[in-house]
Parts: sequence; structure tokens; C-alpha cells
Amino acid sequence: MISLTEDLIELGKKNAAIKAVEENVSKNMIIGIGSGSTIVYAVKRLGEINKEKDLNLKCIPSSFQSYQLIIQNGLELVSLEQYPEIDVDIDGADEIDKDLNLIKGGGGCLVQEKIIASNSRNLFIIADFRKNSQKLGMNWKRGVPIEVIPMAYFPIMEKLKKLGGNPKLRMAQSKSGPLITDNGNFIIDTDFGEIDNPKDLENKILSIPGVVDTGLFIGMTNKAYIGNRDGEVLILGKD
Ligand code: A5P
Repeated sequence: MISLTEDLIELGKKNAAIKAVEENVSKNMIIGIGSGSTIVYAVKRLGEINKEKDLNLKCIPSSFQSYQLIIQNGLELVSLEQYPEIDVDIDGADEIDKDLNLIKGGGGCLVQEKIIASNSRNLFIIADFRKNSQKLGMNWKRGVPIEVIPMAYFPIMEKLKKLGGNPKLRMAQSKSGPLITDNGNFIIDTDFGEIDNPKDLENKILSIPGVVDTGLFIGMTNKAYIGNRDGEVLILGKD
């Protein structure tokens, strides 16, 4: 049986996703498609309006999951080689702070998500009320996801401890051993507690050889659409 809270979370995700799509998508746009559970609602709505209004949307995926979502919803799949400038990127997040900095990668897809976001004119984040936070690390307790080259994982974990983190190699489900990303790498989830200076932390982690990228998305978000418990969507950020 689904609980009332789970129902409200799903409603929050859906409302945020639909509002972000309807406010920001128009004819002939190149759209970046994020990953996770919230993006599923956005791609469904994109597929509907693309057909209803003949929008000629072209979509670039950030993971194997979003590649499949684009196809399943009848949208046109294109690549960064064809369209290196994306009009609008829509994606979920694990936590959003008051400055719209993010923790992402809970679903293991952070590297491609950051590539898509960094090549987009606009990044719109869609999330339910649980993700809205004052500071990163306040609500999201699974740590900052860090994608690493497999041979380097052990020394990287030692260096993350020296930075004050508590690193854990993410393990796969239904398979023994570590989770392997879409890029063939490992993920180290590292709890740093509440993060006072996310930009500084990001720079320090990125300076470790073997780190591919981190789930800290700093200064990239234009607006965050937060689906609240009461059915309303709170919009954070400016035009
Ligand atoms: C994927 O790895 C993540 O960055 C997701 O975008 C993030 O975890 C949000 O996922 P949900 O929409 O499932 O909460």
C-alpha cells in the first residue's frame, strides 16, 4: 500500500515537472534530458506537448535511462555532436540550497548530467519538497556522489578523508561488487556534513587525480521548481 507521504512526494514531482516543461519549452528547441525519477514526468509531458502542438523538439540524453525515456515518449533523439548548444536542460536533484547549488548523482548519472547542463543556456531543476534546503548536506545524508576512475578509488578515498569526508564506495544492487556508471567508472559517496563553501569543496575534490567529476553543481541552475505538499509549485530563481 502506498502511504500518504509517498503520494504527496509523487504529486510534488509531477507538478514541478509539468510546470517547468509548460513554462519553458517552445517550438524547435533543443532540450537536455536529466535522469532520475522526477524527470520521468517531465519527459512524458514533453512527449505530449510535442505531439499536440507539433513543436519539433530535439532531445539530448544524460544517461541510458533518459535515452530510453526519449524514445519511449516518441521524442527525437539527437546528440551534442549535432547540437552542441542546448536551449533548455531539465533535470532533478538530490538537494537544492538557498543559492540553487545542487547535490546530484543519487541515481548514478552525474557526469553526463553535468556535461549537458554546462552546454545549456538554461538549467531548470524539478524536485519535490524534500529537496529544498538551506545548505547542502542538511537534508541529503547519503553524501556527495563522486565519479572516479576504478583503479584510483582507494587512494581517492584516503584523500577524501583528509578533506574531512566520510567516503563510501557505492555498491551495486543484484550484483556483487561496486556500482558501475554508464561511463564504466565507480562512485564514491562522501558525507562532508553540512557544506559551508560548496565551490571550495568542489575545487578541492576535482584536484584529486582520478576524479572524473562530482555531484556538486555550483552556480549552474537558473530556476528550481519545487512541488510542495499542498499541490502548489514554488519557483526559486530569476528570469
Ligand atoms: C541522477 O543521478 C541524479 O542526479 C538525479 O537527477 C537526482 O538523483 C534526482 O533524482 P530523483 O528525481 O529520482 O529524485
